[in-house]
Order: sequence, then C-alpha cells, then structure tokens
Amino acid sequence: MLILSIESSCDETSAAVTDCRTVRSNIIASQTDIHRVYGGVVPEIASRAHTEAISRITYESLREADITMNDINAVAVTYTPGLIGALLVGVNFAKALAFAHSKPLVAVDHILGHVASNYISHAGLEPPFTAFVVSGGHTSLIEMTSYTEYTVLGRTRDDAMGEAFDKVARVMGLPYPGGVEMDRLAALGDPYAIKFPSAALNDGTNDFSFSGLKTAVINYIHNIEQKGQTYSREDVAASFTKTVTDSIIKRLDGLCVEKLAVAGGVSANSHIRKALERYENVYMPPLNLCGDNAAMIGVQAYYNAKSGYFAQTNLNAVV
Ligand code: KG4
Ligand code: ZN
Repeated sequence: MLILSIESSCDETSAAVTDCRTVRSNIIASQTDIHRVYGGVVPEIASRAHTEAISRITYESLREADITMNDINAVAVTYTPGLIGALLVGVNFAKALAFAHSKPLVAVDHILGHVASNYISHAGLEPPFTAFVVSGGHTSLIEMTSYTEYTVLGRTRDDAMGEAFDKVARVMGLPYPGGVEMDRLAALGDPYAIKFPSAALNDGTNDFSFSGLKTAVINYIHNIEQKGQTYSREDVAASFTKTVTDSIIKRLDGLCVEKLAVAGGVSANSHIRKALERYENVYMPPLNLCGDNAAMIGVQAYYNAKSGYFAQTNLNAVV
C-alpha cells in the first residue's frame, strides 16, 4: 500500500512515500537555520516556511520514490498535536492533494507517528508494548494495546523533556536547538559533579515534572554568576543529563516494562540511548528517524487505514 505522507507540525517540512513499513523516500526540510537567530521556533515564521517548502518537498518525495500521484493509494497527514498554524499548512495541503487526485485521506496523531518510527527499523516489533515518546513537545509514556490504540501511563506535568534540554542549553548560551549541543558537552563533563532534583514525581503516579529540575539548574548557574565565579558547562550538561536519565530509569523500573520502544527527538541522545541499552527488549529508531519526519507518519497511516480509519474533507488541525 503506497502512501504519500505529509508532516508539518513544528519546524520540519517533510513528505515521504512509504509502502507498509518500508520507506521509499523521506524528504525533510529543516527550518532550524531560520529559527536559530530567535533562540527557538517562531510559530508564524514556521507556518510561512512550511507554505513555501511543502509543494517542492512533496514532489521531491514522489520523484525519489520514482512514482507519480497515480500510483499512490492514500494521502496521509499529521493533524495533531503541534503548532496550530504549522499543522494547518500540512492538513490543507494534504486535503487538497487527496481531493484533486481522488485519493483517500488518513489523519495521523504525531505521537503515534513517532512510535511508528520503530516499525520501520525493527521488523519484529508489534503491539502490545510500552512506548516512551520524548521530544521537544512531548513526554508520553504510553501502553500500545494495538497499532491504533493506547492508554496513557505517564506524562509530563509541565515542560517536555526536549524543552528542558533546550532551556538549560539556552541559559548556558548554547545555540538552538540546544539538545544536540548538550549531548556533546555532557560527554566531556562529570555526571556526578552537581546534584539536581529528579524529574520523576514521587506522588504515586508515573508522571514527570521537568520545571523543578530546569529551575534548579538555572538557579545553580545564576548563583555562581552572581558571585562573579565561573562554572563548567560540561559538568552542568553531564549532571543534568544524568539526572534526566536516572529519572527515566526510575520510572521504567517502577513499571517493570517488558518491551519498550523509545522515540522522538530526545531518543537521539547518546547518553540516554546507552543507559536504555541495559534493558533487554528495548527498541530505538536510528538517529535519522528520531526527529520529525513524514516516513513515520506514513507507516502509522498504513495501520490507521488497515483499521478503516479515514478522514473526510472537513478534517481540521487540533493543537
Ligand atoms: O521529535 P522532535 O524533532 O520534535 C518534536 O516533536 O518536538 O524533537 C525535537 C527535540 C528538541 O527539543 C531537541 O533539542 C531534542 O529533540 N533533541 C535532543 C537531541 N537531539 C534532539 N535532546 C537531547 N539530546 C539530543 N541528542
Ligand atoms: Zn515530534
């Protein structure tokens, strides 16, 4: 089943052609360079950049897959969650494309899309399993009961995990997106240098809170700066990363997870990946599929379509 998929929920415009769990093309236009000068994603600029890129990226994905719209069985698009203006560009583009070519339309939840990035690289992975989606906008611990259904086990009460990485990086003057630079610096620092509070809440739930941890790091930096002293960015990055990693491990150990699929931008973090390798049945996407991409949306769309879930022309974006 050939699916043309579109992803535009944040700052990556992406189009892909997938055939069930196989990727035929996966074109990604990142807006990172555009947003870097502002230190974060500017929603209106993101929407405009998607509008400019989306046609070109879509036709590139068809060309690379060596097919035309006639060969496509369905058009898929991310409709939730994300930046509303950014989502609307993809949703409207996909709706118009499906309508013009008389193709069925499939709406995909971005979180399930991230989970599906693991179906691409791990042929044997099938529900039920526990999924942990960690990105700039999400920290979702979910139980996948089927390819299309899940229950939420835990989530963040405030900042997402990637957001915490980015905010700490910003306070240390690192370029956006900070997560990548934090990863590099953490390798050079001492993870035991500074003690920060855990992000795994101790209230009987499986939830996380990153705002306390983030504030503790920011206070540590400000205190030292106010005294006119200097601190080691490497040690802060390493200690912060260890605290995040320990928080994840605490949560997973508490749940006695049997089969775990991790996904999302933060799953590219080398230290977190290494720590998770201690689990026997852990699945992680290759680095090129951790961040936002349309191929993962196309693979999830295949399972939605298989279950008979199609969208109509009144499909709207949902934040
Ligand atoms: O999945 P993604 O591309 O977009 C969202 O759906 O949010 O995730 C982007 C997030 C950003 O916060 C970025 O800093 C973080 O993933 N990230 C990382 C790493 N690579 C990307 N965080 C920690 N370590 C990394 N290596
Ligand atoms: Zn994402």
